[in-house]
Amino acid sequence: GQYTASQRKNVRILLVGDAGVGKTSLILSLVSEEYPEEVPPRAEEITIPANVTPEQVPTNIVDFSSVEQTDDALAAEINKAHVVCIVYAVDDDDSLDRITTHWLPLVRNTCSSNNSTNGNANASSTKPIVLVGNKIDLIEYSTIDSVLAIMEDYPEIESCVECSAKTLHNISEMFYYAQKAVLHPTTPLYIMEEQD
Ligand code: GTP
Ligand code: MG
Repeated sequence: GQYTASQRKNVRILLVGDAGVGKTSLILSLVSEEYPEEVPPRAEEITIPANVTPEQVPTNIVDFSSVEQTDDALAAEINKAHVVCIVYAVDDDDSLDRITTHWLPLVRNTCSSNNSTNGNANASSTKPIVLVGNKIDLIEYSTIDSVLAIMEDYPEIESCVECSAKTLHNISEMFYYAQKAVLHPTTPLYIMEEQD
């Protein structure tokens, strides 16, 4: 059946992206409401209670670290997540290029190989994605034009946001967009058979 907001017991958000883009800093900034100067490679999984989330749903936020985790562990986390935030650094063009050369194909392939093994081709044909441009404090321009071009090719991208873990700009918005991508998706998560 189809998910609705009322049936959802929790929202599980996974952050991925190249090393150094600020995944761990974003999570710790959200939790502590201040910028951590020193961060571990990977933040502990955190659960935000329903009553402090905008959608009133308990929300788990999961970090990824290529230093601490294998490709298999990443694939398992992608499958468990309800929404994947692909983070890039707005001052690092390579991290932006890797959204299309690496991260979006990886999430797609991970989800589709899962569908073919469990024989349920209709379920979760795509996983909603939010594109997150971090470190907006470092530049005077916007990367949104490049991101909008990517969104045209990947309908699973629900939204995009530029933010800064350092200044806290758009940090709560970023996690709200991720919640919203699960609870109120705008792209069809299921390919419905056409009705006559
Ligand atoms: P890995 O764990 O190696 O995959 O990296 P990560 O994506 O978790 O990045 P991390 O949070 O460790 O941040 C990397 C560096 O970027 C650190 O030196 C942070 O202080 C810095 N950084 C993170 N967010 C921001 C930001 O919004 N602005 C600025 N100027 N620096 C940031
Ligand atoms: Mg990290």
